[in-house]
Amino acid sequence: MSEPRKILVTSALPYANGSIHLGHMLEYIQTDMWVRFQKHRGNQCIYVCADDAHGSAIMLRAEKEGITPEQLIANVQAEHSADFAEFLVGFDNFHSTHAEENRELSSQIYLKLRDAGHIATRSITQYFDPEKKMFLADRFIKGTCPKCGTEDQYGDNCEKCGATYAPTDLKDPKSAISGATPVLKDSQHFFFKLPDFQEMLQAWTRSGTLQDAVANKLAEWLDAGLQQWDISRDAPYFGFEIPDEPGKYFYVWLDAPIGYMASFKNLCNRTPELDFDAFWGKDSTAELYHFIGKDIVNFHALFWPAMLEGAGFRKPTGINVHGYLTVNGQKMSKSRGTFIKARTYLDHLSPEYLRYYYAAKLGRGVDDLDLNLEDFVQKVNSDLVGKVVNIASRCAGFIHKGNAGVLVAGNAAPELTDAFLAAAPSIAEAYEARDFARAMREIMALADRANAWIADKAPWSLNKQEGKQDEVQAICALGVNLFRQLVIFLKPVLPLLAADAEAFLNVAPLTWNDHQTLLSNHQLNEFKPLMTRIDAAKVQAMTDASKEDLAASQTDTGAATGNGELVKDPLSPEIEFDAFAAVDLRVALIVKAEAVEGADKLLRLTLDIGDEQRNVFSGIKSAYPDPAKLEGRLTMMIANLKPRKMRFGISEGMVMAAGPGGEEIYLLSPDSGAKPGQRIK
Ligand code: 2FM
Ligand code: ZN
Repeated sequence: MSEPRKILVTSALPYANGSIHLGHMLEYIQTDMWVRFQKHRGNQCIYVCADDAHGSAIMLRAEKEGITPEQLIANVQAEHSADFAEFLVGFDNFHSTHAEENRELSSQIYLKLRDAGHIATRSITQYFDPEKKMFLADRFIKGTCPKCGTEDQYGDNCEKCGATYAPTDLKDPKSAISGATPVLKDSQHFFFKLPDFQEMLQAWTRSGTLQDAVANKLAEWLDAGLQQWDISRDAPYFGFEIPDEPGKYFYVWLDAPIGYMASFKNLCNRTPELDFDAFWGKDSTAELYHFIGKDIVNFHALFWPAMLEGAGFRKPTGINVHGYLTVNGQKMSKSRGTFIKARTYLDHLSPEYLRYYYAAKLGRGVDDLDLNLEDFVQKVNSDLVGKVVNIASRCAGFIHKGNAGVLVAGNAAPELTDAFLAAAPSIAEAYEARDFARAMREIMALADRANAWIADKAPWSLNKQEGKQDEVQAICALGVNLFRQLVIFLKPVLPLLAADAEAFLNVAPLTWNDHQTLLSNHQLNEFKPLMTRIDAAKVQAMTDASKEDLAASQTDTGAATGNGELVKDPLSPEIEFDAFAAVDLRVALIVKAEAVEGADKLLRLTLDIGDEQRNVFSGIKSAYPDPAKLEGRLTMMIANLKPRKMRFGISEGMVMAAGPGGEEIYLLSPDSGAKPGQRIK
């Protein structure tokens, strides 16, 4: 027997400002299956993760919600942990990057890099929001495309014509946070000198650490020459202050991968037998794998190994990159109901259905994986229920009725058990190589053989014949043993099914090597159905609920106008507080108001709500025949009303007004001093 391997595994850290969806789950499920496989084989394998808690997006979202970033990330961490646990993702630790271990390690790594001369400083000029008093990342600046003149484009590219540019090229730039016109301002930034590691990276990326397609992509970047990487951000920022540099913070992507180490460190701190240095020290003999999506390869395969090398730590053994998830052949879509949150899935379906489907389709490449919902139902029902579980349910009854639940000794078809034994190394090899699809194909081929053999022997017919009872018991005993073998092979994918099967089989938790033995003269427990078929109606209910997720916060509660109509009846039925709280009521600045050609009652309003501009059609023209007079005025709007497609364009919310109609429509206004984007609390 060879020594157990020591392996540390991570999945990318999810941002702490949003829910987990089925796209995320593709990564966590595949990592978890690989980790479970390693543990099943007797290796020491530790799986850590954390929430990625820093950055301006999290700071701004907390501000919007009126809570501290610490509260926001605590809430999200609780939600994420529950989702992962229910999907059977068995982290050994799920931490947060906003943690003391991470602060210490980030400082330590930065200081080592700095002292070794790998940090440069220089002043850069950037847009600054004079109202919010903060520098603006590109995505927080909006303006008119310098190329095609389309308004309301983000700071680095135009959605209309596809042009890419610097934010300073935008015409009429505005802060997407406050609406203020940004000013240019200098500040000192800190850069990691990535070019110092060019040679190391050239060798490391070609040393078997990466899939070929990934290594080839990196070679293009390496050949083009590496740039220094800006690792600092100015206050205000939610993150860690850079040592000796008050007011300067580590960029979120600097401390995010260090979060892998910090999560492991946190685990070591409460697990005496774990030694941090044995996994992260320069001479570590442990293996280290990061599972990530293809969009974050540069951070993991360039910046991260260079940081580790520069700071005197070991580098990863492998970076395992996967593609994106599509649903029904297309990008996940909120309006089609295919943007499915982990929680919404779990409300309708068992986690193991999805785990199996992902496994059945996951190869070791970086191709996208399609969750085709019809195929999903068909495949799970046919493979898991129709093939695997069916073997046990076909045989268990005869054993309970005919032999008091005891498996007889003997082997009714050695050629079959030999075939199962012979297939094991290849299945293990496929798991090891993360070719889950091949592993599943080979396992299902064995299930087909077992089913064909049982069908051929037809114990249900034999059982009706005189003197054939011993034969029935021999057939069914082997059937149950073959089922047990399949469960052993599938356990990394289906841990719940395995646990239920262990209870039925009356055995200790199965490990990989148990496939080399058969149960004989063995008492079974009562057989309970191990898995039920997926009901397609539940899948439909899940996609319907995903559409509702969107609509849930868009309840229309009363006297508001917009979308061409005045809502007449202010005497709406009573609503619960939650329904009210779900309405996002905001102060809006009417930037532009114009009549709509071909529409008698409508005005087209351009509303500034602080962090963005909205286009709203409102049926108030009869009260405001000279719409330009509305420009510059503040009003109130419902900002989270589901956008409606109208003949003249899309209406993205409603402004609020009162009155019987005609000339008597009165737009609501806040007191002076209110700012666009402020919310009703
Ligand atoms: O892309 C993302 O979702 C990041 N939060 C991943 C971070 S992975 C690691 F580097 F921390
Ligand atoms: Zn353009």
